Amino acid sequence: MTGYDASVSTPQLHIVGARPNFMKAAPVVSALGEIGRQPYLVHTGQHYDAAMSEIFFEQLNMPQPDRNLGVGSGSHAAQTAALMIALEELFEEMRPQLIVVYGDINSTLAAAVTAAKLRIPVAHVEAGLRSFDRTMPEEVNRVVTDALSSLHFTTSPEAEEHLLKEGISAKGIHFVGNPMIDTLLRFRDVLDIEGARRLFDLPERYAVATLHRPSNVDEDLAAGRVVEGLRRVAKELPILLPLHPRGQEVLFRQGLTNADGISVTEPIGYLEFMALMSGAALVLTDSGGIQEETTVLGVPCLTLRDNTERPITVTMGTNRLVGNDPEVIESAAIEFVASPPMGRVPPLWDGSAGPRIARVIADLGG
Ligand code: UD1
Repeated sequence: MTGYDASVSTPQLHIVGARPNFMKAAPVVSALGEIGRQPYLVHTGQHYDAAMSEIFFEQLNMPQPDRNLGVGSGSHAAQTAALMIALEELFEEMRPQLIVVYGDINSTLAAAVTAAKLRIPVAHVEAGLRSFDRTMPEEVNRVVTDALSSLHFTTSPEAEEHLLKEGISAKGIHFVGNPMIDTLLRFRDVLDIEGARRLFDLPERYAVATLHRPSNVDEDLAAGRVVEGLRRVAKELPILLPLHPRGQEVLFRQGLTNADGISVTEPIGYLEFMALMSGAALVLTDSGGIQEETTVLGVPCLTLRDNTERPITVTMGTNRLVGNDPEVIESAAIEFVASPPMGRVPPLWDGSAGPRIARVIADLGG
């Protein structure tokens, strides 16, 4: 629990729901507490498996959510509708003065729409990112959430340009840096790379992969190409693939096996995963956050997508977009391992984004 006391303040609700939200919210909630504020933490229950949720709260020393709405999985409409119904009830009950939402998941969208209809101001952490690909559910969530938010906390300079082009007032835009990187920097020095390598029986040189985007794991054709790409890379470099539940059925049907240099595991905790990435010769991923984390860790990253809402990881960092063509994946992997890209850390990814966000919220009376 965050220690929220209803008799002391009008609630400020922080809404989290799925794995990538937790490391973004942790530094913000903690920084607000440090300046005497009382954030109220709501978990929508979009992710519910212990390995997708609970373990992050434990490892990040995050306060347990003050409320868990237990919404769970569903189609986009069913899940978003269930989230909105549960959130509306909560907002009516608590009458918050501010709703803070994180990232681009369905919980983010549902909270923003519900709050806007109840005329409660919304603050969006990680605003203004755009892949300009509306086939991505997250892009729809980003555009709608930003349109409805009155405070926009951005992680990189181009985000402000996107927001201004969409008619959003410059007054509410604050370039604060990247709170997910606050969490990485907080734990970076205690990551046990050797221990994690031993735990997963990996040699000194290995790659780590993650896959969960609908564009890669929902349809057979695309999934088959990605599996073939991994197979080719695994001939050069063994790959550990902690697999999101979403990808299991189709990827295995398309020939993914726990053999020939590929080791498939259950999803793993934050600290073990960051340790494994830190020690990796190469990361292959379709995640958004991992493109940023590898940039800070200086680890070569191949993103198995045609676009990214995080272009700064390509222009400044160690990331390259390779899509899902097996030949392209293989040749880029060989090139990246032989001569790793030299990257720089983007501006304000310095471990102090959480305190900056907290200060803005507090100065506005939150
Ligand atoms: C969601 C986010 C995505 C984010 C990802 C991180 C949306 C639209 N997508 O995608 O942006 O990158 O989380 O992981 O919000 N499942 C479980 N256990 C869980 C949670 C999910 O088994 O704890 C399975 C269920 O079969 C579920 C499927 O995964 O139907 C998809 O879950 P969902 O939350 O809808 O989307 P993600 O693919 O996880």
